[in-house]
Amino acid sequence: MSTGARNAPVTVAVTGGAGQIAYGLLFRIASGAMLGADTPVRLRLLEIPAAVGSLEGVAMELEDGAFPLLESIDISDDPWVGFAGANIAVLVGARPRTAGMERSDLLAANGTIFTEQGAAINASAADDVKVLVVGNPANTNAFIAMSNAPDVPAERFTAMTRLDHNRAIAQLAKKTGAPAADIARIAIWGNHSATQFPDLAHATIDGRPALDRIDDPAWLTDDFIPTVQQRGTAIIQARGASSAASAASAALDHIHDWVRGTAEGDWVSMAVPSDGSYGVPEGLISSFPVTCANGTYTIVPDLPLDDFARSRIEATVAELIQERDAVIDLGFAKRA
Ligand code: NAD
Ligand code: LMR
Repeated sequence: MSTGARNAPVTVAVTGGAGQIAYGLLFRIASGAMLGADTPVRLRLLEIPAAVGSLEGVAMELEDGAFPLLESIDISDDPWVGFAGANIAVLVGARPRTAGMERSDLLAANGTIFTEQGAAINASAADDVKVLVVGNPANTNAFIAMSNAPDVPAERFTAMTRLDHNRAIAQLAKKTGAPAADIARIAIWGNHSATQFPDLAHATIDGRPALDRIDDPAWLTDDFIPTVQQRGTAIIQARGASSAASAASAALDHIHDWVRGTAEGDWVSMAVPSDGSYGVPEGLISSFPVTCANGTYTIVPDLPLDDFARSRIEATVAELIQERDAVIDLGFAKRA
């Protein structure tokens, strides 16, 4: 099959390669859905030693897809090997919370993983590496990885709130009957957790204010915000496992837009190191509305925020500060 003019191949490292999200993600990366039909990919897949056998099965399936853009597949259980030459690193693998585990135990278990992965990315990834952390607690795991990669510019470490962004679009589409394609300028602020603030104040439908289409103001506070905040939990309850295909799709969207740019007149939500915008402490990895162009993102500046929005943002940022301070106390990061 002819694929026309091609860009240079891009090396994409994915951790948690034998897991649920990766199973939804890897085949779409290989098909070109993440980086475009003009960009060959070299996959580097990482797992813990106990899951390498299963990962070999996933690699066999990837081979069997005969994807024209897929140049190679390498497998490793060693992050120092797995991230070698990575231009994109998607950190999906994380330690889940199990029965009897306190939040501090979860932060500690993940702190060890993301400290090592940050150091390995620092030592062996490509100079232009872009990092997306999906594994929870995603913002704080990204903070730990960033803190342990002093030679990688901090702004290359991001965490995923695109699933929350997509969920917010879906809820607004359902409420108004508008197609998702007509909805723009949704914003997710703060943490990928139940404290996040999904914000419709600036959203548009077909270029006009979305809130003009909502005749019941209580819908926003009593339905829309809690539904988006609790959607991950609702899916775990319904499915018996956390969202996987929708999370994979959001990870694809996040990297696609970061690399290839956001649509004219729209923005997306990404958790990125704060530059102090909107009162969020510098360096905290918090979700903001961003635009992307030429492989970089910019926090949308100067959005007017009312008292309600400010208090919601303060609450979710307070949770992030607590998580950051806990991992600093545990020795996984240093105070800036
Ligand atoms: P999963 O349990 O199916 O797969 C995770 C995989 O990661 C497992 O195969 C495990 O062996 C592997 N892993 C664990 N530690 C690793 C390490 N140090 N190096 C490499 N691999 C490692 O879980 P899943 O459904 O794929 O979800 C993965 C993570 O994504 C979870 O933390 C989940 O909570 C999170 N998640 C985040 C979002 C988001 O929007 N940010 C959405 C959904 C799920
Ligand atoms: C989600 O938003 O679906 C997940 O982050 C939920 C989870 O805890 O894995």
